[in-house]
Amino acid sequence: MPALVTENITAGYGRNIIISGISLTADVGTITTIIGPNGAGKSTFAKTLVGVLRTQTGRIVVNDKDITKMPGHLIPRNGMVYVPQNDNVFVNLTVRENLEVGGFAAKGDSTARMGEILDIFTDLKKAVGKRAGFLSGGQQNLLAIARALMVSPTVIVLDEPTAGLSPAYTDVVWNQVEMIAKTGTAVLVVEQNVERALKHADFVHIFVAGTNHLHGTTAEIAQHDLAAIFLGRAEAAQS
Ligand SMILES: Nc1ncnc2c1ncn2[C@@H]1O[C@H](COP(=O)(O)OP(=O)(O)OP(=O)(O)O)[C@@H](O)[C@H]1O
Ligand SMILES: [Mg+2]
Repeated sequence: MPALVTENITAGYGRNIIISGISLTADVGTITTIIGPNGAGKSTFAKTLVGVLRTQTGRIVVNDKDITKMPGHLIPRNGMVYVPQNDNVFVNLTVRENLEVGGFAAKGDSTARMGEILDIFTDLKKAVGKRAGFLSGGQQNLLAIARALMVSPTVIVLDEPTAGLSPAYTDVVWNQVEMIAKTGTAVLVVEQNVERALKHADFVHIFVAGTNHLHGTTAEIAQHDLAAIFLGRAEAAQS
């Protein structure tokens, strides 16, 4: 069941159009990944989904509700949250306080939700009273994801959650992402590492120069010459 549907999204910065005609879906309980060369528009698309940037054309639907023109601060409680690549935790607050901040946008008491989340993120449970600034980069990324999950979203959008992490911690983060999908959330992940994307995702979209150049199941995508696409020989690779 699609938790997120985008139809023909065009967006950019001011008059500078960066992405155009982007249509995709993210289903409940699955991992959908967006890969593509630097500057392809992956982060621009992620920011457009959650209202940081505005669509110039197209529609964004979450849980059957059109959120295209919804103010960004209302989108989390309507089911979709976003974790940016950098500056994604409050370094002066403790792990617990960061999670509490995440819960502010939730309806009702979030104590029980925090318990559920800490049961999934065992590294964070051990560090619950620690200031976020003292966590490793990988743990900070997990905290940012955990904080976003406090509102029990239907869709979580992650922008390169493993960038700059050691291979070992990259595995930890991806394992957590898989657990999040298993709880029934639709996970949309921007990933710079093609191998990891193919290993963990169910569906893959390859963005090239602001378009959704190629998409399919992981098995379908693995049949293509991805190196050629990434090196800019996109036309050759598709035929
Ligand atoms: N704040 C901004 N203002 C103007 N142009 C921007 C801004 N941020 C990004 N761009 C431009 O938009 C294009 C797409 O950038 P974007 O960050 O979406 O790419 P990306 O696919 O996420 O790349 P990367 O793999 O490097 O993270 C680039 O040409 C970039 O220069
Ligand atoms: Mg980016």
